[in-house]
Amino acid sequence: MARPTIWMTPLLALAACEGPTTGNTDTSVGPSTPAIVPFPAAAYTGVDEQGGYTVPILVTGGDGTFEFSVPSELVLSVAPGASPDLGVCTAVAGGIGNVEITSGDAVVYVPVTVTPYTAAQKTAGQGVFANNGCGGCHGPTGANPDITSSGLAEHTEAEILGAVQSGINPEDGSPIPIGGHSFTLTGDENPGIVAYLRSLAPAGAPAVDE
Ligand code: HEC
Repeated sequence: MARPTIWMTPLLALAACEGPTTGNTDTSVGPSTPAIVPFPAAAYTGVDEQGGYTVPILVTGGDGTFEFSVPSELVLSVAPGASPDLGVCTAVAGGIGNVEITSGDAVVYVPVTVTPYTAAQKTAGQGVFANNGCGGCHGPTGANPDITSSGLAEHTEAEILGAVQSGINPEDGSPIPIGGHSFTLTGDENPGIVAYLRSLAPAGAPAVDE
């Protein structure tokens, strides 16, 4: 009658290890970290021969602390931002890089598309900004309404050009009510305005605007 008891012992030991985590006070691990929600879910920035532009990514969820990293540094690098929920990506070269964000045992990846521009295009874009009164409405640094790297983090080049040239709001396709926004761009100005706006220092955290 002793034998079954001996056989049971390892099984019980195993059950104790793998059983429910009642009494487990280690909350930093375990399968329960809430999902991380990044904004934007896909980000855009640029690079030219003078250097890479930056784009911030804002996160919510998780356990409130986040680690930002890049599995490969070929296309971008990432550093902590001004607050724990911000990561700031800096472009290294054209392509698509991934930012890995972890919190507890939750993980999420944000693809960042880096478009290569020339410094001449960026300079042409700076001219567009200076000569068309963009700063009169958006502020001299493009901060409000935010058309810097933070405000445009979620928008593709086509969406930004649609806003500038045709007054199409990138959020919902509706007309932008103020400003006309039917600027005619030629030559280097065409991708250049996007290069210039993306090269502007982030005015804040990326956010959904109307
Ligand atoms: C008369 C005021 C005015 C002028 C001038 C103006 N804008 Fe705007 N712009 C606005 C307003 C208002 C919006 C809508 C903002 C929103 O919906 O969040 C907007 C939206 C945008 C957007 C879309 C932003 C987004 O994320 O939805 C871009 C890009 C933009 N402007 C770029 C420019 C550029 C570049 C110039 C100059 C060539 C310019 N704007 C000139 C007022 C102006």
